Amino acid sequence: MARESGIIAPAMSTKKSVGGVRKSPQSKSPSRKPAKGKGSAAKASPAKPKQLFAVRKSAIHGRGVFAARGIRKGATIVEYKGERITWEEAERRYPVDPVPYHTFLFEIGDGSECLDAQNRGSAAKWINHSCKPNCEAEEDEDERVFIKARRAIEAGEELTYDYNLTFHERISEKNKKLRYPCWCGAKNCRGTMLGRKK
Ligand SMILES: C[S@@+](CC[C@H](N)C(=O)[O-])C[C@H]1O[C@@H](n2cnc3c(N)ncnc32)[C@H](O)[C@@H]1O
Ligand SMILES: [Zn+2]
Repeated sequence: MARESGIIAPAMSTKKSVGGVRKSPQSKSPSRKPAKGKGSAAKASPAKPKQLFAVRKSAIHGRGVFAARGIRKGATIVEYKGERITWEEAERRYPVDPVPYHTFLFEIGDGSECLDAQNRGSAAKWINHSCKPNCEAEEDEDERVFIKARRAIEAGEELTYDYNLTFHERISEKNKKLRYPCWCGAKNCRGTMLGRKK
């Protein structure tokens, strides 16, 4: 892995198969039938499918992604899209400036490559970290990353997943919190976006 300079990015703790992109029920357009009987002559206008999520200002950090309607447990919400690049390229593009630490990189595969969502990413790049997340990131056999609901999510809730950042150099507990602070506000907040030691 080419991460001597210490750039880190969210990564999956375990790989799970998601079997390609599956349309969740939420992404289907609701079908409506015109009412039968008197007064039903007027044509019903086709229902506009409501977006599953919206990007807006977050209390955790900067912009975040919020459920625009209820999302069922297990639903695939959005793909983390980005330009696939090597870590050498990531280090060239983003020299480490860890305070405040900020990244749109997502580690994939064996860790030698990542998705850079900075310029050509999907809305998934705005999803913040939480130590008590309602979503999780899963990588499929083709090294595509999907954000899925870990539990049923209500409209208005901010979508989050555990970044589980890994750092390949020694770092003190104090520096973890100083350099990679977590502001998720969860009761069990680790105080850092870095993951636990395995
Ligand atoms: C992929 S961006 C998420 C979108 C970000 N809120 C923004 O507006 O750019 C990841 C960065 O957001 C910040 N961030 C996300 N979750 C955070 C959290 N729980 N506490 C502190 N900063 C967080 C960190 O700077 C992290 O590197
Ligand atoms: Zn936290």
